[in-house]
Amino acid sequence: MRRVTLTQFLVSRQRDKNLINADLRLLLETIARACKAISTRVNKGALGDSHGSAGTSNIQGEVQKKLDVLSNEILLEANEWGGNLAALASEEMDNPRPTPTHYPSGEYLLLFDPLDGSSNIDVNISVGTIFSVLRCPKTEHGAYCEPDEKAFLQSGRNQAAAGFAVYGPTTLFVLTVGDGAHGFTLDRETYTFVLTHPDIRIPEDTQEFAINMSNQRRWEAPVRRYIDECLAGKEGPRGKDFNMRWVASMVADVFRVLSRGGIFMYPRDAKNREGRLRLMYEANPMALIVEQAGGAATDGKTPILDLPPKGLHQRVAVVLGSKNEVDKVASYHK
Ligand code: F6P
Repeated sequence: MRRVTLTQFLVSRQRDKNLINADLRLLLETIARACKAISTRVNKGALGDSHGSAGTSNIQGEVQKKLDVLSNEILLEANEWGGNLAALASEEMDNPRPTPTHYPSGEYLLLFDPLDGSSNIDVNISVGTIFSVLRCPKTEHGAYCEPDEKAFLQSGRNQAAAGFAVYGPTTLFVLTVGDGAHGFTLDRETYTFVLTHPDIRIPEDTQEFAINMSNQRRWEAPVRRYIDECLAGKEGPRGKDFNMRWVASMVADVFRVLSRGGIFMYPRDAKNREGRLRLMYEANPMALIVEQAGGAATDGKTPILDLPPKGLHQRVAVVLGSKNEVDKVASYHK
């Protein structure tokens, strides 16, 4: 079988399909290269001197791990000078960071969660990187707007590209530029991403759910009803048994959903009243990928991609995966 590398894939999206321009192609290649570097650091484990806490907190008050900080730096350093970005925003930085004035500025805005699931680092469970690419809005005179927080607050439907990497038993890179969702595996001998999961399709039905059950007592009624019915199995209203999985790394849980179907939920609850996951650099990119793979993503009431963002670090409830199950959860919210 002919191997298609990420570079070849991107060239074909630029040259044959005219889906991306040269700047976006370079940006995506640079992000992928940064993910390889992060993968190498994650892979070193306790030998890399980057385990443990960095002794600092991010804007949401979460303790930063050394690898959170390092991954953020790797992505910043890789992307800042390329000339294709107006600004970057990250889970680990309070405010957007415009391209430094000594580098050329470009058309795109990049958002990322540099190391998702980082509570799993020290226990050798998969973690990953999630990213979203938007275009910098223009003024009525055609010039690019100031790339401040307001410029980033666009609906998920505006994303020019989105993707994530999983640093697990293998390193995977999943990407959409608007023509489906495609997965690449890192070949550690040639250090290239090779297309191994072309045109991913999520089965519409499933018998597998992913949710943090320890929050059960705090859930809202529609979520409680849905999970109760799954747990009732063959004897219950669904008439079939369900299996449960929860890695506690969104990247790994979503990749499982992409691979064999399932429903992933982090609903709002009495403790996390807005939900737990971040809209701009977790929910939006994952929602775009899931929709491109034939699945659905909602906050219970509205498709994630249609939500008008209110803040860079806004949290949101997330229900995504196999379409018929996501629709069922949404119908219970009505
Ligand atoms: O960024 C948030 C995150 O780490 C996700 O990757 C994951 O799905 C979730 O939090 C895990 O939450 P909990 O700690 O409640 O299991």
